[in-house]
Amino acid sequence: MSEPLRLGIAGLGTVGVGVVRIIEEKAALLEARTGRKIKITAVSARSQSKDRGVDLTPYAWETDPVALAKRDDVDVFVELVGGSEGPAKDAIEAALAAGKDVVTANKALLAEHGQTLAETAEAADLVLRFEAAVAGGIPVVKSLTEGLAGNGITRVLGVMNGTCNYILTRMEETGQGYNVLFDECGRLGYLEADPNLDVGGIDAGHKLAILSSIAFGTKVNFAGVELEGIQDITLDDIRQAADLGYKIKLLGVAQITGRGLEQSMTPCLVSDSSPMAQLQGGTNMVVLEGDEVGQIVLRGAGAGEGPTASAVLSDIIDIARGTRLTTFGQPASTLKDAPAARSAAVARYYLRLTLVDKPGALAKITAALGDNGVSIDRMRQYAHESGSAPVLIVTHKTTSDNLNAALEQLKDSDVTVGRPVAIRIEEV
Ligand code: HSE
Repeated sequence: MSEPLRLGIAGLGTVGVGVVRIIEEKAALLEARTGRKIKITAVSARSQSKDRGVDLTPYAWETDPVALAKRDDVDVFVELVGGSEGPAKDAIEAALAAGKDVVTANKALLAEHGQTLAETAEAADLVLRFEAAVAGGIPVVKSLTEGLAGNGITRVLGVMNGTCNYILTRMEETGQGYNVLFDECGRLGYLEADPNLDVGGIDAGHKLAILSSIAFGTKVNFAGVELEGIQDITLDDIRQAADLGYKIKLLGVAQITGRGLEQSMTPCLVSDSSPMAQLQGGTNMVVLEGDEVGQIVLRGAGAGEGPTASAVLSDIIDIARGTRLTTFGQPASTLKDAPAARSAAVARYYLRLTLVDKPGALAKITAALGDNGVSIDRMRQYAHESGSAPVLIVTHKTTSDNLNAALEQLKDSDVTVGRPVAIRIEEV
């Protein structure tokens, strides 16, 4: 029997407590599966006195995660503090400098500093693993790194922020507006400390940037993700999309072309018959497309104690078994710089415009689209009060450059009120 694997866990929020609970409750199962005991030796969090519902008295307590990371009786440093800078980063760097393997759930840190941290870990023959950083309990990092390692990955798509999916699906179910459901998410504890990380698409963008690196062998490039949140989606958009046979999702799409790495995390319309459209509430879905395997659909809980702790445990178990994988599926020193590129692929678009209700207004709209090579597939004008008229257009396939040029022309015209809404229709 091998020596026990000794853990130091920094961060005792929902996920940290889940990890402690699983290690206590499933000690025999974990030992049977890894051939050694997995033991927590020390923990660290902001408040020692807080009742977290688990017994922490068997473990040494450190107030400073950096001190925890350096302890001689810790083999693996488990970072569940969060944040791209500050204590989480300092502690991981200290752990690597002290020769410890690291497991983290910190997507923001990996999205910003993953390349440097991976290079540091690998230069010292250490592992840095992060299954819990992307899509909670869904084993998507493992699927890409291991299960699909024999494929060229052609595309990665995903709904990877449960809070946004909860808001969008509840808007459709209940007819309540964005602001009401945003407040409900706050009451339910679904929002990150900075809610813009959720509704602004940043949290999901971090996750997409991490997956792109593994999928395409490129350095993590979060700055290259085209980001747009869900704050401007209205009930009208949800209802009109539904009328047309679509759902609105905050959808991540990544692919690599000769032009560079295309990554977007933006609201998109997906057909009612697509797997994404079936996704309700806080659930996540990741679709992986490989040149040999075809399409793989992974769906499950993207957050919460059990699911996220389950993902943390999978990394700990790998280390206990002696499975020593590189951070991003190939040595970090071999990951390529990929310039960010905007998609040149054609797509159909949903447009919502409010027109000044006067003769010739519609003609100016169709002219702006036509002048820029954008062809109309479907068009509706809704019943309206005098003064302004809501108009809905679905275009034929066009490039985002052509569409944006048409929208610029419209912005300068005297016939639209407010900003036109344009949402890509993504074929999944
Ligand atoms: N706030 C995230 C979500 C969970 O709503 O999916 C952690 O990434």
